Amino acid sequence: MNRLKICIAIALIYNMTLISGELKKETPISGKKVFETYCWGCHHQSAVAFGPPFTRIASKRNKQEIRAMISDPKSVSKLFGYKRNAMPAFTLSEKELNAITEYIISYKPKEK
Ligand code: HEC
Repeated sequence: MNRLKICIAIALIYNMTLISGELKKETPISGKKVFETYCWGCHHQSAVAFGPPFTRIASKRNKQEIRAMISDPKSVSKLFGYKRNAMPAFTLSEKELNAITEYIISYKPKEK
């Protein structure tokens, strides 16, 4: 009988640590959210807006180039061949940068 109680107690404690661990887990930052917060006014996933669409960006740039452009568009747009820089710089956290970069890259057109 005692053994059963101990078993139940252990099971309960185990469950509680699982649940609290679950709650503590940070909510992941989604690239879509970053896009909607910062980029949406000027970029569209597949259509040309004020800025080029993600499908086009993803087909010609790598992750480093995309990250650099977000953090320092003034210099990087020149390297990319734009005559004038109309995109503002963004100070994003490392996580936001990763998330938005992955999001853009995910629009890379599939190679046939
Ligand atoms: C105010 C409008 C505006 C906003 C907001 C904006 N962009 Fe841009 N973006 C542009 C324009 C315009 C260009 C073309 C280059 C230039 O003018 O600097 C561009 C270019 C880019 C490029 C390079 C395009 C290429 O040739 O490869 C990337 C990458 C990019 N934007 C990503 C982003 C991301 C990510 C965000 C959100 C964090 C964002 N942009 C927000 C206007 C904007």
